[in-house]
Amino acid sequence: MRTPLIVGNWKMHGNRASNRALLDAVVRGMAGQEGVECAVCVPFPNLGEVAGQLAGNRLAWGAQNLSEHAQGAFTGEVSGSMLVEFGCRYVIVGHSERRQLYGETDKVAAAKFAAALAQGLTPILCLGETLEERDAGRTEEVVGRMLQAALDLNGMQSFEKVVVAYEPVWAIGTGRTATPEQVQEVHFFLREKLPASTRLLYGGSVKPGNAAGLFALPDVDGGLIGGASLVAADFIAIVRAAQRKG
Ligand code: 13P
Repeated sequence: MRTPLIVGNWKMHGNRASNRALLDAVVRGMAGQEGVECAVCVPFPNLGEVAGQLAGNRLAWGAQNLSEHAQGAFTGEVSGSMLVEFGCRYVIVGHSERRQLYGETDKVAAAKFAAALAQGLTPILCLGETLEERDAGRTEEVVGRMLQAALDLNGMQSFEKVVVAYEPVWAIGTGRTATPEQVQEVHFFLREKLPASTRLLYGGSVKPGNAAGLFALPDVDGGLIGGASLVAADFIAIVRAAQRKG
């Protein structure tokens, strides 16, 4: 049985004070919530404060990126062991914004996945097609290729405890959510290539109003939430929608 998982991806938003207040509101709203695992992936400079704020809380936290290298002369990069020191459990790997804006290849994402596992972090591997690729009927080819790169480097067994997030690029931050049929189709395709225990999240304009319908799908184990994770009430409502699945 896969416990539902909801992860907030704050991206590059907020400041120390506003992010502290956001997290306080999330923690208050989460009181008494059972049956769903939750985490927030915050900007690097917030990690120290978040670790203090969440000590002893069941809400986990993580980062949005890490270096594929363990250490060395890599100016501006952050290693997996540094994230571990700040109590991170999760790290997002291969987000489409990293792939599209910073040129991360499938190979780099696979190496970052390996770097996360080497430190005992749980990678959240993001996969997704652009609108152009979908319209050309290439969705399965593209997400399959992204997944295969991580499988080739890390092996099937390494996927038993990790998280894979299907995030169609055209649905991220656009308000245009994939339909339940589109989501289930891709998740089923991914499910068949992975161990039964791998948690498969959907991301892309998940909101309180559409979350329950998405989470009810047989191969969706929760969500990776961008914009709605910045509004405590919305994030909590999405957690509640996942709870009904658990
Ligand atoms: P939105 O929920 O804002 O569409 O972002 C999704 C996402 O990219 C989460 O990683």
